[in-house]
Amino acid sequence: MCGIIAYTGERVALPLLITGLSKLEYRGYDSAGVYTPEDGLLRSTDGVQSLAALAPNAPSGTFGIAHTRWATHGAPAVRNAHPHAAQNNILHLVHNGIIENYQDLKDELSALGHTFASDTDSEVLAHYIATAYEAGLTTTEALASTLSKVRGTYGIALVFADDPGTLYAAALGSPIVIGIGEHEAWVASDATALIHETKRVVYLEDGEYAIVTPETYTIKTLGHIDKTRTPQTVTQNAEELSKHGYAHYMLKEMHEIPTVIADTTRGRLSEMRSTVKLGGLEEVRRELERMERLMVVGCGSAYYAGLYGKYLIGSLVGLPVDLELGSEARYRSIPASRSSVLLAVTQSGETADTLASVKAFKEHGGLTLGLVNVVGSTIARTVDAGVYTHAGPEIGVASTKAFVTQLVGFGLIALKLAELRGVTSTELLSFKDALLSLPTLATEVLARSERVEAVAQHYAKYAHMLYIGRSLSAPMAYEGALKLKEVSYIHAEGYPAGEMKHGPLAMIDDAFPTMAIAPRDSVYEKMISNIQEIKARKGPIIMVATDGDYRAEEMADHVIWIPKAHEALMPVLATMALQQFAYAVALAKGINPDRPRNLAKSVTVE
Ligand code: F6R
Repeated sequence: MCGIIAYTGERVALPLLITGLSKLEYRGYDSAGVYTPEDGLLRSTDGVQSLAALAPNAPSGTFGIAHTRWATHGAPAVRNAHPHAAQNNILHLVHNGIIENYQDLKDELSALGHTFASDTDSEVLAHYIATAYEAGLTTTEALASTLSKVRGTYGIALVFADDPGTLYAAALGSPIVIGIGEHEAWVASDATALIHETKRVVYLEDGEYAIVTPETYTIKTLGHIDKTRTPQTVTQNAEELSKHGYAHYMLKEMHEIPTVIADTTRGRLSEMRSTVKLGGLEEVRRELERMERLMVVGCGSAYYAGLYGKYLIGSLVGLPVDLELGSEARYRSIPASRSSVLLAVTQSGETADTLASVKAFKEHGGLTLGLVNVVGSTIARTVDAGVYTHAGPEIGVASTKAFVTQLVGFGLIALKLAELRGVTSTELLSFKDALLSLPTLATEVLARSERVEAVAQHYAKYAHMLYIGRSLSAPMAYEGALKLKEVSYIHAEGYPAGEMKHGPLAMIDDAFPTMAIAPRDSVYEKMISNIQEIKARKGPIIMVATDGDYRAEEMADHVIWIPKAHEALMPVLATMALQQFAYAVALAKGINPDRPRNLAKSVTVE
C-alpha cells in the first residue's frame, strides 16, 4: 500500500529518490521520508516534493532509502513517517505491509529497555533487526533471523551504518523489485518508481532477501540459500505498470479483494483465539457494553454496507441498529446520549455529509465511532474511536474492494460487540471461522469472472434493470444496482424482493431484466416465488445462485454461480460477482469504468 524506492550508485541520491517517490503517488500517501547518511533523515507530511527543502545542505549522499506512507499503524504524522532509525542510527528501514505480531515483538523489546519514537509496526522491525545485529549476528543473519519471527506481510529496504553503499531488501506478500543500471542499482516496491531510469529488473519472491550494491545483487532465502535470477526487461509504460497489468484500476482493485479481506482481519481474528482484537475500540469498551442502540451513517455504497451491518449485528448480537444516510441524518435532530453510539462508515473519511452527521451527533454528547479506510482522514480524526478497514488506496471511482472490506469490518464489529456484551452462540463461532475462510472463497469468485462477463454481454443492450434480494442480500441488490448505474449508465434499481408486489412488479416486461440475488439461504424459497412472479410477466432473469442449486438453471435465463459459504457471507461473494457484471457491461458499452461521467471519488461538498 505504501511505496518504497532506494538507490545506490555514483549520482547524488536525494533528487533521484524524490523523483522515484513521486512516481509512486498513485498509491496514495500521507507522509513521505528519505534517508541518506550524508543528508540525514528527512520526513514530511506535506508531500514528496517538500522533502528536498528539508536538506540542511546541498545533497551529497550517493545511496539511500525513501518511502511514501499509506498509514496502517499510527496516524499520518512525521514521527510515524518512514524511514525509521534504530539504536543510534545503526540502521534505517522502510517497510510496506503489516506486521501482525508487532505487539509481541514490541513487548519483548520494551522489556529490554527499548523506547519507540513512533506508533508503527515498522519501527519495531527496525529495532528488532538492530538488536540482533548488536548481539553479534552479521547484517544478513540479523535480517533473516528477525524476518523468520515475523507474522504478516512485508516489503522492506534497509541500510546499515556499517555497510555504506549496500542496500538490503526482503519481501513477503508485498512486492520488492531490484532495478539494475550501469554502476548503480535500485530497490523499489513497484517498477513504476524506477522504469524511467532502468528497464532491467529482478523481482524478489516471497521469503527472499537481497543484498544490492552498485555492481552486484545477491538473492537468498531466509535460510541463506543462494537463488540465481537473471534480470528481465520491463516493457510496459508507467501507467500500465501502476495498474499491475490490469486494464483498469477497477479490475485491479476487484482482484485485490482476497488480499484486502485478509489484511482487514489480520491480527484481529485468528483460529487460535476466541476473542476479536480491535485495538481502536478498547478505550470505549465500557460504553459499547452498555450501549442501547447503535446508529450507523454513511453515503452511497458505505450506506449499503451499513445496511448489511444493521442486519448482521441485529441477528448475531441482538442489538438494535438504526441506519441513516449522512445527507439526511445531518438535518435531523438526532437524540444522542452516551448510551447511544453513532458509527460512521466511509472509505475516504472525507465525505461531507457523513462528517456533518458525526459532528452533529458529537455536539449532542453522543459517542462517535468510525469504520474508515483512509487512516488519519478527517472523519478518522473526528470520531472518538474506531476500526480501520485495510483496503489500501482505492483509485477506481466506483467502490469495489473498499466496500467489501466495509462488510468484513461489520463482521469484526459484530463479533466484538457480541464478545463485549456476553452474547455467545454456535452461530457466532461458525461465522468467525467462515470469515477467516472468506479470502479463499473470494479468490474462487474471481476465478469465475469470465462466466460473469459472458452473461454481461447479453444485458448491455437494456435500458433498465432491477436488482432484488432479501435479508442480507437486499443491501447487495442496492449496491449491485448502484454499481451498474455508475459505470454503465444503465438505469438500475435495487429493491428488497418482498416489496415487488407493492409496486415494482408493474415495471416488469420482456424489456426489463431482473438480477435476482438468491443464494441458498434461509429466505431462498421466498426468492424463488419472486423469481416465478417475474418470469410469469416475461421478465428476463439473471440469478445469482449457489453452486449445486439445480433449480437455478431451469428458472433463470442466465445464472451467475457463487461458491457455497456461510449464510452471512454469500452476499459478500454475490456483491463481488455483481461488481464484475457492472465492469463487463461498462466495457461492452465502451465506457471507461475508472472514470464514470459526473462523479468524483471523494465527495467533500454537500
Ligand atoms: C459508489 C461509491 C460511493 C461512495 C460514497 C461514500 O461506488 O463509491 O457511493 O461509497 O460516495 O464515500 P465514502 O465511503 O468515501 O464516504
